[in-house]
Amino acid sequence: MAASNIRQLGVSVIPVEKDRADLLVIALPAGSRALPAAYSGVLGGGKGPVAALLGSGDFKGECGEAAMVYGASENYARVLLIGTGEAKAWTRERARAAIATAARRARDLAVNETRLVLPLVQGSDRSSEAELAAEVELAAEAALLGAYQYTGWKTVDLEKFKTAGNLTFVCAGGDAASLGRALERGRVRGEAVNFVRDLGNTPANHLTPTQLADKARDLAKQDGLKVRILDREACEKEGFGSFLSVAQGSAEPPQFIVLEYDCGRKDAPLIGLIGKGITFDSGGISIKPAAAMHEMKFDMCGAAAVLGTMKALKGLAVPVNVVAAIPATENMPGGRATKPGDVFTSYSGKTIEVQNTDAEGRLVLADALTWVARTYKPTAMLDFATLTGAVVIALGHYGAAILSNNDGLAARIAQASETSGDKSWRLPLWEDYPEHIKSDCADLKNIADGNAGGGTIAGGAFLAQFVDDVPWAHVDIAGTAWWDRDRPHLPKGPSGYGVRLLLDLLEGYGR
Ligand code: BES
Ligand code: MN
Ligand code: ZN
Repeated sequence: MAASNIRQLGVSVIPVEKDRADLLVIALPAGSRALPAAYSGVLGGGKGPVAALLGSGDFKGECGEAAMVYGASENYARVLLIGTGEAKAWTRERARAAIATAARRARDLAVNETRLVLPLVQGSDRSSEAELAAEVELAAEAALLGAYQYTGWKTVDLEKFKTAGNLTFVCAGGDAASLGRALERGRVRGEAVNFVRDLGNTPANHLTPTQLADKARDLAKQDGLKVRILDREACEKEGFGSFLSVAQGSAEPPQFIVLEYDCGRKDAPLIGLIGKGITFDSGGISIKPAAAMHEMKFDMCGAAAVLGTMKALKGLAVPVNVVAAIPATENMPGGRATKPGDVFTSYSGKTIEVQNTDAEGRLVLADALTWVARTYKPTAMLDFATLTGAVVIALGHYGAAILSNNDGLAARIAQASETSGDKSWRLPLWEDYPEHIKSDCADLKNIADGNAGGGTIAGGAFLAQFVDDVPWAHVDIAGTAWWDRDRPHLPKGPSGYGVRLLLDLLEGYGR
């Protein structure tokens, strides 16, 4: 159905001149006019097509540039030069893009054996043992991210979708065992992101709340987690009135999914992760316009990000305990659906007037947040949600909005954004906002007054009412979870946003 499209990743310390393959990938910085000495032997020295290409100045080495050269080497049928831009302006994002570009090329040509030389920038201060391992990890992740392709339910033209064979990163020295461990970490991370992308791509009729719960059960079995799933009746008993108000309009039974990861240390921090699991958002009675409604199969991407993260914890031996809660349901305008103006009692005890059934994400999250806060008393908790179209107005598709009641947590998220590449930007939760979500007949209403503006903040201000005193952050991924534009390590479609951010954040808690 879908795949990471690289058969196997590997790492090697065999020098390029002693090896052979179908493709050799070499990164070169901007302004390279001659081959670095390390490759001179295997690529025909000052003669041959690579030297000619570089000497011509046609290959600029700009970021994203790629040139395939044939007949340049006895050992390698093809040589791919990829540009990394100014050597001094190296960033992780640029490295990811370069590696993803190469991996995609290897995939599209169905190359059986590929060698890619690391570090990308030779002779730099990133050549130390630890830095080299970090680059191997980043490279493995970026290659899987870039080569991702989804074929879904296609039955024709499948021969156009290719798979790369072995992709091996060649390091000039270093400890093979520690490089192997780094590779494995990158593989686990990349596979987890691609798992999220698969879920995001899956049509809503093939990923119902029940099927999402089945995915969680599979994860629990494969990835060493505890799982518990509350059905409608159990949710009623628990008092999830806000969550169930969304579910009541759908024929599909809701599922409240709970996963637990135990790192083996009772005194380690416990982090709560909550993911919006609306498997389809029609808007309910406050129905959405038809034009883009099909896109709303992506409304479970918060849940998917949380599941993808949980999937990777054991493989990475993440040193914190984690509990995940996913309220999963469709939002549909059935005969029993919530009517605008209806009032419900949430798990917290607070009553909510539902003025707009399309503001359903905050309703399902409210109960999950309070339940996690009171049941687990976590060190911190984060929710991931495709909550508001307004976040695209605020930040475009490049970064998620952060709303938090805790500066320390917000700083940790900013740090994890920096290292992971999952960008984010904090918006304020000024004390003025709660004024706008007061109801005339209940404690709260689920949308702000018409003239309040700041739709993303309004969503966060609503959620903030349900977190008790737990340090909490809301991550609005409505802009970052999906984008209709191709980028090297972020092919168009679901991005898998959140997994890498969360993994870096969780690892940070353990340090
Ligand atoms: N799932 C949507 C958010 C969304 C909208 C994501 C458009 C991507 C594109 C969410 O449930 C929703 O409908 N939000 C409303 C909130 C409003 C009614 C206060 C929105 O953003 O329009
Ligand atoms: Mn909605
Ligand atoms: Zn929604």
